[in-house]
Amino acid sequence: MWLNLVVFATATLAYPWVVDGNVIPAWLLRHRTSDSSALDHVDLFYGTEGGGNVFPGATRPFGMAKVGVDVIDPSFGNSYSGYAPGGVVTGISMMHESGTGGAPQYGVVAQLPFTGDFNPHVQTNLSRAHSDSAKVGYYAVNTTNGVDVEFSAGERFGILKYNYHDGVDAKVLVNVSHHLTAPQRPWWTQYFVNGSIDATKSGYHGYTTIKGGWGDQKPWTLYFCANFSSAAQSVSSFQGTTVEQNRVSISSTEQDDSFGLVFDFGSRVSEVVSHVGISFISREQACSNINHEQDFNSLVSETQRVWNEEVFDKFEVVSPEPQVVDQFYTNLYGAHLIPSNRTGENPNPGWKPDQVYYDDFFTIWDTFRCLNPLHNIVSRKRGSEIVQALTNIYLNEGWTPDGRSANQNGRTQGGSNSDIVMADAFVKHIPDVDWEQAYAAMKQNAEVQPPYWYDSFAPDASTKQGRGALPDWLQYGYITRNYTRSVSRTMEYAYDDFALSQVAKGLGLSDDHAKYLRRSSQWQNIWNKDAQADGYDYKGFIQPRDADGSFNYEDYDPMSCGGCYWGNDEYEGKPVEYGFAVPHDIAKLIQLVGSSETFAKRIDDLYPLHGKKIADVGNEPSFLTPFLYNFVNEQWKSVELVRYIMQHDFHFGVKSLPGNSDGGAMQAWVIFSLIGIYPIAGTTTYLIASPFVNHLKLHLENGAVFEVSASGLSSDNIYVQSLKINGEKWNKNWVDHDTLFGPNGGSMEFVLGSSQVVWDTGSVPPSFGHIN
Ligand SMILES: *[C@@H]1O[C@H](CO)[C@@H](O)[C@H](O)[C@H]1NC(C)=O
Ligand SMILES: *[C@@H]1O[C@H](CO)[C@@H](O)[C@H](O)[C@H]1NC(C)=O
Ligand SMILES: *[C@@H]1O[C@H](CO)[C@@H](O)[C@H](O)[C@H]1NC(C)=O
Ligand SMILES: *[C@@H]1O[C@H](CO)[C@@H](O)[C@H](O)[C@H]1NC(C)=O
Ligand SMILES: *[C@@H]1O[C@H](CO)[C@@H](O)[C@H](O)[C@H]1NC(C)=O
Ligand SMILES: *[C@@H]1O[C@H](CO)[C@@H](O)[C@H](O)[C@H]1NC(C)=O
Ligand SMILES: *[C@@H]1O[C@H](CO)[C@@H](O)[C@H](O)[C@H]1NC(C)=O
Repeated sequence: MWLNLVVFATATLAYPWVVDGNVIPAWLLRHRTSDSSALDHVDLFYGTEGGGNVFPGATRPFGMAKVGVDVIDPSFGNSYSGYAPGGVVTGISMMHESGTGGAPQYGVVAQLPFTGDFNPHVQTNLSRAHSDSAKVGYYAVNTTNGVDVEFSAGERFGILKYNYHDGVDAKVLVNVSHHLTAPQRPWWTQYFVNGSIDATKSGYHGYTTIKGGWGDQKPWTLYFCANFSSAAQSVSSFQGTTVEQNRVSISSTEQDDSFGLVFDFGSRVSEVVSHVGISFISREQACSNINHEQDFNSLVSETQRVWNEEVFDKFEVVSPEPQVVDQFYTNLYGAHLIPSNRTGENPNPGWKPDQVYYDDFFTIWDTFRCLNPLHNIVSRKRGSEIVQALTNIYLNEGWTPDGRSANQNGRTQGGSNSDIVMADAFVKHIPDVDWEQAYAAMKQNAEVQPPYWYDSFAPDASTKQGRGALPDWLQYGYITRNYTRSVSRTMEYAYDDFALSQVAKGLGLSDDHAKYLRRSSQWQNIWNKDAQADGYDYKGFIQPRDADGSFNYEDYDPMSCGGCYWGNDEYEGKPVEYGFAVPHDIAKLIQLVGSSETFAKRIDDLYPLHGKKIADVGNEPSFLTPFLYNFVNEQWKSVELVRYIMQHDFHFGVKSLPGNSDGGAMQAWVIFSLIGIYPIAGTTTYLIASPFVNHLKLHLENGAVFEVSASGLSSDNIYVQSLKINGEKWNKNWVDHDTLFGPNGGSMEFVLGSSQVVWDTGSVPPSFGHIN
């Protein structure tokens, strides 16, 4: 039975692993451990194509340096992460985002090795000899242009290594104006503003200033510092089409200019290694961000060690399906790329060097549902720093972000969902947060309308931060159609206010608790009990509502959101999908739809498993919906639907994600599904499904272990027959945080089988926002 068992374990095992009643012998574990490491299970190209936009380059967990190739490939479209599988490489640059939509950001501070004559009339570029290769902390490009490229990344620097073929002239282009662009979304493209570079024959430093991009479009500056392993024979400058020999310093103030330096190492040099540091503060800090101790190989090993220590070694996973193990570690990797730890790197006024700072919240409206809750389990230190960073952004810059990069807030899709990130950390006792300050940030979101910010996509605006449609929320208790996204904003403002109510409660602010709990029910104000959808025999949906209280939208289709964009009634989800987005009061929703049977039927109707394809897991508003059968004690249907979605919407390889990774939100959804639980963000509740892994251990930071076993698991045996939690028989289809992740850790022992058993006869999951 276990001859084809794939076992992976890095930590020393304290007691025998039992799978399907068989004790796995120690020799097998040791054997597998020696030739299989978690790193080997990570597919760096997972989700890089088909809109996933995952960054495949070299980086540390949440690292500021994300060193990767920048590619021009018109057939691929915008390269959001810099990468595309085809086309030509125009730079190896130091900063990228991972898994975003919107528009490409960064792609700055680039080098490009080349051979032959420098031609200022064309963009210097390399053609690949074959597909790029990558493993954690390492990336390689072999080209048809006489040079091969390898690179690795530390926290705030990278090492680039070029191997020139015999006899060629070894050159390196340093293009100060290089940056990613968005040819297909020119309104959000980045522009070069100005820059400067000063060099010797063996190194250089300088800065580049870029503006535009997604979000607020103000200019921002990145400093750089680099050296080469040997001195160049000559250095020349270029600006536009002008080339000057023997010039080592040049500045440019011309937008969109092509300018920089070319280092010529001659034909006797076969290898050039360059250490490149970056900083938002100064050239000096860019230089000091380089770890002088490290050479190329030791940096690769160190970056891999950091990934193992911070992420992979915490888990031990057993499955007879090799793909499940690959899927687990690959998604885990993708869930640890952004935001970026930029403590000490915020150049805006007011920031102190030791103030915790993260950037690249791209975007919280995607990540708050399950990625942030994943961090609050796997790394409470990280979860804490993220909340500290959000608080510090409020303290120094005025508002928490909903989306942010390049040290500036902008944009906000619906509510102020940082409120839910904060509440999630609060209810899970995440340490080292000043909760009075964090709560002040939340309260400002709930009470103060953010300043007007012009946005051509939504001229009613205030899409930069906070809650732009707040006046309606306070006056009417819902958002009227005077504002864009009135339906999705109403739903999200309610959930956000629920988040406030929970923190207020914990801080002993009973008036605030009552006030925000009441406001969290205001989503009910847009529930029109008479609304209908063509082809469905039940009534009652959320709908836009006018200031006078009327619903005059008889032709309004709950199954459609038009363009689902900035100017529509809902962003990124249909009204019927948003109708389920009240995780704090599902009890009320069940009352509104009339019965448990109708509630379950309404979920059925959203998915091809029972109905039509209406809900899309590729957009986060429906992340929780497949698990909601638990609220009517039909847990087996949640299990079945999650299996269905995992099989139909998530795949293996480059086109594996159902749309953008959304900064790792998709990967976090997969991780929870594989484990068999799903968090309700902002609460202590996890809904229980059923595991895809036979056995899993997670070593918690407090030294305890969280453990899952699934006896009987097979492709048919997916349904829960019985469950024990912490050794006790368990008949509820939910469990709270402290029971699993508290000081003693926790265990879930599933017995799985092929019959659709109603084992969950205990109480349904709590609706903490319910007001009787
Ligand atoms: C330098 O980068 C700019 C902007 O990305 C690009 O337009 C230009 O062609 C590049 N110059 C060279 C010589 O590759
Ligand atoms: C790449 O370089 C070649 C050779 O200089 C040139 O013909 C081509 O136009 C360049 N491609 C791009 C996309 O700039
Ligand atoms: C790619 O380049 C590296 C570094 O020069 C070299 O070790 C490797 O053999 C090359 N791979 C192939 C397939 O040519
Ligand atoms: C570069 O551009 C920034 C942003 O517009 C500006 O503040 C700065 O003064 C410029 N620097 C130079 C040297 O022109
Ligand atoms: C380049 O910088 C690295 C890191 O600071 C250092 O180890 C190396 O000796 C430097 N090389 C040269 C040629 O200065
Ligand atoms: C984030 O970066 C700062 C500054 O380098 C560092 O002190 C801190 O430990 C980092 N956070 C984590 C969780 O590694
Ligand atoms: C809001 O819309 C209503 C119609 O529903 C209109 O009468 C009212 O003037 C609008 N208010 C504002 C401030 O635009």
